[in-house]
Amino acid sequence: HHEKIGTEIFDLTIHFPEAAAEAVPGQFVCLYCKDGSRLLPRPISICDTEKEQGLIRMVYRIAGKGTREISGYKSGQMIEVMGPLGNGFTPNEEEAILIGGGIGIPPMLALAKSLAGVKKVVLGYRDETFLLKEFQEVCDTFVATEDGSLGTRGTVIDAMTEHGVSGKSIYSCGPMPMLKAIAAFANEKGMYAQISLEERMACGIGACLGCICKTKDKNHHTNVGNARICKDGPVFDAKEVLFL
Ligand code: FES
Repeated sequence: HHEKIGTEIFDLTIHFPEAAAEAVPGQFVCLYCKDGSRLLPRPISICDTEKEQGLIRMVYRIAGKGTREISGYKSGQMIEVMGPLGNGFTPNEEEAILIGGGIGIPPMLALAKSLAGVKKVVLGYRDETFLLKEFQEVCDTFVATEDGSLGTRGTVIDAMTEHGVSGKSIYSCGPMPMLKAIAAFANEKGMYAQISLEERMACGIGACLGCICKTKDKNHHTNVGNARICKDGPVFDAKEVLFL
């Protein structure tokens, strides 16, 4: 299944039973383009899985030539895929707040569906929304838009403040400035937080070192505080990440 659901945003479901059986929320897959000149795969987060039917769903935004080529693929075509990759979220079921920003919103859907306990979702959009109804069907959902066209005008933290959204832990995926603000917010409120840094990935398979982030813990081998987002993450304890 492949469908355009927004400006340059596509909803893609592939049949990949082995990966669907294993995948956990927060993991990603690498899609390979057919054009050999673009050898690096495109890392795309998993939005949802239908394990019994062997399906993996991704919602992605066109971010370059590779994803533009993929956006032209038709239902029934074959695509080369590797995954699931990365570590995924390890959530605590109790009073979780799930926060997604921009194209970091899709992986929060699988997480929202997987949590049995009370959970709240806060979504930050630039202007146009996507996947919103599906979140609303699963749990209480609060929205922030940059232009104020829906929900709170401003950031996800503005929306949380306006609606008094509280909980014990935060799970989040989105652009780096948002994650940095969330890490500071969680720290201030004494909440546990896991953040997915997937926006910073390139090859997705540990080959290019284009995804290094600074961490407080030093690597045993190199004695420096570096982590590969694609291999060691993309999900990290927010306290472990050093934001520059
Ligand atoms: Fe290339 Fe991580 S994205 S090494």
